[in-house]
Amino acid sequence: MTSGTGARHFLDLDDFDTATLRSILERGNALKKAGRADKPLAGKTLAMIFEKPSTRTRVSFEVGMRQLGGDVVMLSSKEMQLGRGETVADTAKVLSRFVDVIMLRTDSEEKLLELAEHATVPVINGLTDRSHPCQIMADVLTFEEHRGPIAGKVVAWSGDGNNVAASWIHAAVRFGFELRLACPEGLKPPPGLIDWAAGQGGKVSVTGDPQAAVAGADCVVTDTWVSMNQEDGETRHNLLAPYRVDRRLMANAKSDAIFMHCLPAHRGDEVTAEVIDGPNSVVWDEAENRLHAQKGILTWCLDS
Ligand code: CP
Ligand code: NVA
Repeated sequence: MTSGTGARHFLDLDDFDTATLRSILERGNALKKAGRADKPLAGKTLAMIFEKPSTRTRVSFEVGMRQLGGDVVMLSSKEMQLGRGETVADTAKVLSRFVDVIMLRTDSEEKLLELAEHATVPVINGLTDRSHPCQIMADVLTFEEHRGPIAGKVVAWSGDGNNVAASWIHAAVRFGFELRLACPEGLKPPPGLIDWAAGQGGKVSVTGDPQAAVAGADCVVTDTWVSMNQEDGETRHNLLAPYRVDRRLMANAKSDAIFMHCLPAHRGDEVTAEVIDGPNSVVWDEAENRLHAQKGILTWCLDS
């Protein structure tokens, strides 16, 4: 999405056409292969605002920016005037005078959109309550490194129909793979999102049956049962227990199906240790690819 000022925002995968997403991934891939020699972001500064905790997003953006020759300012909203009432719009205008690109991790999709509306520099979605697009760029990169082109393949999700699931739905449509989600009643993705996918000609289905979703899949994915700032932990554990990814569930996928998880993981809850630490798990490559995907996103946003 490009703002009125021409800034290239990276807000959600559904904002983009396939060719642009592919070009961002190709940038990441090329930079991964090139190693650390290239410094296309020399003289540029990234500001990162975190309203929620992070390990991977924070470190991959910071290390990625520095490896590309740029600089980073880390901001926690609690320590900013934003945390005591300064508006998102004013924050956007001020930061745009200091830095070249802003990343925000927030609970509220509205805050991200407001930041993008008022910033004159690119804004990147580092996770909201609605989506996690940077993660899924890394996930597509990881899938393709292990199993070749993702178009036409089958990815199965078993668990909470949350923000990460939403970005998988966007990706299924844009990258042309089938996505089968198994989620309990009450934790399915928003119906509007499934309707959007259908309207775009995407192959996205939702069932309550994890075995059916996983049957013959090339990849099985899950995520935490309790996302950041969610409080109904016990209810979620009860609803989601049948969706745990264990050896029995993986056995219904293709024999060489890979297992992915954005991390952090909770062994014994959404996935058993024998699956996440087993031979079909690619979660460490997936985590590393956050760095390479981030570089693709940063260089695309800054057109460098
Ligand atoms: N997967 C992911 O976004 O991890 P962090 O919360 O550690 O950034
Ligand atoms: N769904 C999780 C993802 C963490 C990277 C959360 O929002 O907490």
